[in-house]
Amino acid sequence: MNRENIYFPHLAQITRILPQIEDHKLFGLTFVDKSMKDNFSYRPGQFVELSIIGTGEAPISISSSPTRPGTVELCVRRVGRVTNALYNLERDDLVGIRGPYGNGFPVEELEGNNLLLVAGGLGMAPLRSLLWYTLDNRERFEDVTLMYGAKIPDEMLFKYELLSLLDRPDLRCMLTVDKDEEGIWPAHIGVVTTLFDQIEIDPSTTYAAVCGPPVMYRFVLEELLKRNLSKDRILMSLERKMKCGVGKCGHCAIGYKYTCLDGPIFTYWDAINLPELI
Ligand SMILES: Cc1cc2nc3c(=O)[nH]c(=O)nc-3n(C[C@H](O)[C@H](O)[C@H](O)COP(=O)(O)OP(=O)(O)OC[C@H]3O[C@@H](n4cnc5c(N)ncnc54)[C@H](O)[C@@H]3O)c2cc1C
Ligand code: FES
Repeated sequence: MNRENIYFPHLAQITRILPQIEDHKLFGLTFVDKSMKDNFSYRPGQFVELSIIGTGEAPISISSSPTRPGTVELCVRRVGRVTNALYNLERDDLVGIRGPYGNGFPVEELEGNNLLLVAGGLGMAPLRSLLWYTLDNRERFEDVTLMYGAKIPDEMLFKYELLSLLDRPDLRCMLTVDKDEEGIWPAHIGVVTTLFDQIEIDPSTTYAAVCGPPVMYRFVLEELLKRNLSKDRILMSLERKMKCGVGKCGHCAIGYKYTCLDGPIFTYWDAINLPELI
């Protein structure tokens, strides 16, 4: 009989720590066990339970793409117990990972379509996984557009990585900041919705993937609906309070859905039927 404990984390070593903006760092983690390292697979949009030995666990979206195996990248904002404990660790220290969990983006369904990724703030963490998955499988998708907004240039996650994509011919990379008091920003200025005037959306061949702070959803959804994108072509990554991550504890339940199993990716259609989701 297989008695494997589903709550048992696999050890991973911190192999990279890249500070992004204040209180946000990208951690590169490599499983200690070689077969885990070689075989860990996931979908963009899935998350893991990250554990800090002796402190506890927190659900964190996977920020790297499964097309680049070997290292799992997590972009973590320091907010509380677990994330503070993570920030006290250094390169080569060990953490625990269990997962991947959640549904992730339905990448097979997206193939053959135009993709519009819209992110704000830390929402870029899960969308970065989808972005690189798309770019690494570029022939499977039609037009790909990224819209990402931050308040000011110094608050943009993955700033240099994304700026380096501005000239890429197979991606429309639209980066914006709300304000640029120093006059240094080389791209658009204005909230993310001001980018919508610059693009055309064919509602019959486009999927949108949206992830950002709650306030952003309302305005982005308005823009997408104005352009007749159907509600089941709008995908959103929605985070709820989670504990077990595997559908056992009930912490993440909304109505008849467990967001750790049925989400965190939901269509706008799901969100209308479960209004507490957003
Ligand atoms: C599916 C999913 C994906 C996620 N992906 C990511 C991700 O990619 N990156 C990321 O950074 N986060 C992500 N999160 C959020 C992350 O799981 C939470 O921020 C988690 O609570 C962090 O754990 P913690 O123990 O550090 O914080 P906790 O101690 O649980 O604190 C949680 C909240 O309490 C507040 N709080 C904590 N301590 C204090 C205090 N002393 N005074 C006042 N307020 C306090 C914090 O502001 C915070 O909002 C995700 C969540 C889900 C559900
Ligand atoms: S987090 Fe426990 S049921 Fe979803």
